[in-house]
Amino acid sequence: MDITGFIANMPKAELHLHIEGTLEPDMMISLAERNNVSLPYASVEDVHAAYNFTSLQDFLDLYYQGMEVLQTPFDFYDLTNAYLTRCFAQNVTHVEIFFDPQGHTSRGLAFESALDGITSALDEAERALGISSKLIMCFLRHLSEEDAFETLEAALPHKDRIFGVGLDSSEKDHPPPKFMRVFKAAREAGFIAVAHAGEEGSAANVADAVDLLEISRIDHGNAVLDDSALTDRLSAAQIPLTMCPLSNLRLRVVDDLAQHPVRLTLQAGLLATINSDDPAYFGGYISENFLAVQQALNLSLEEICQLGRNAYLGSFMDDDQKAIALANFDAFAAENAA
Ligand code: ADE
Ligand code: ZN
Repeated sequence: MDITGFIANMPKAELHLHIEGTLEPDMMISLAERNNVSLPYASVEDVHAAYNFTSLQDFLDLYYQGMEVLQTPFDFYDLTNAYLTRCFAQNVTHVEIFFDPQGHTSRGLAFESALDGITSALDEAERALGISSKLIMCFLRHLSEEDAFETLEAALPHKDRIFGVGLDSSEKDHPPPKFMRVFKAAREAGFIAVAHAGEEGSAANVADAVDLLEISRIDHGNAVLDDSALTDRLSAAQIPLTMCPLSNLRLRVVDDLAQHPVRLTLQAGLLATINSDDPAYFGGYISENFLAVQQALNLSLEEICQLGRNAYLGSFMDDDQKAIALANFDAFAAENAA
């Protein structure tokens, strides 16, 4: 099997995926019609033409605008279901997905509208497609910590369906210390914690996310390599990095995929993984991310295997489920990596 076929068929886990970032232009237009929401785009082509980002903030402005078409639990169900159908086609067996409750409650939706729609699609995918999942709710870092506390409060009755808390949105000007108290409260309530750090921000943000927010995983973490002592610490602790190559390219975190740091992170002993972030906006789901970075860096089959395996290792599966998933991955690699 060639490396392209290997990537397509390899069992995969996705650990960094914003469900709102899977809103494809055709669904955006059809949901706008269904819900009578007016959009500044007349056609799918118009939406695509707007996806010409120069920074994270540039993207976020469109991402929050796009969300407005999501109004009912059915919309969130349809959105999640479409993503999981693509996962099945790409041999993704496990997903840990983010949602942004404040992007919806700020528009007057009940906290439960998004949650019920997303979790009913996740439950169904587990039964019908054998795809397991965890759901992580992100706090929007451009909003206040008080607002994040209200979101945590709203989540408490649903702890059985929400595994963790994350931190996303504008990294510039909203560093980790702003959310120390709410992360402590969330951890004390039993949620695991992750955070976006070192995407547009510095290695200091990654260190603060680890030390002050006590996160179990870093989302992106591109800047880690700028600090060799931090790199050594994260490598020794095997704290996973959920990297997103096509996102980094489209948001100009890297000018060129040939400059993507993923190979260097592997060489530094970091537990790096490949993910799609907001695939509808960045031009590819998980397989396309693997393929693009493989081609740009000429990654070897061994490096692809390491990245694929790292995703199961760095997942929040329980020990038994993880052991089975790793054995399954290793069997695939042994059979097909010849
Ligand atoms: N929200 C959705 N995608 C994001 C990203 N790549 N960085 C920060 N916040 C986000
Ligand atoms: Zn992200």
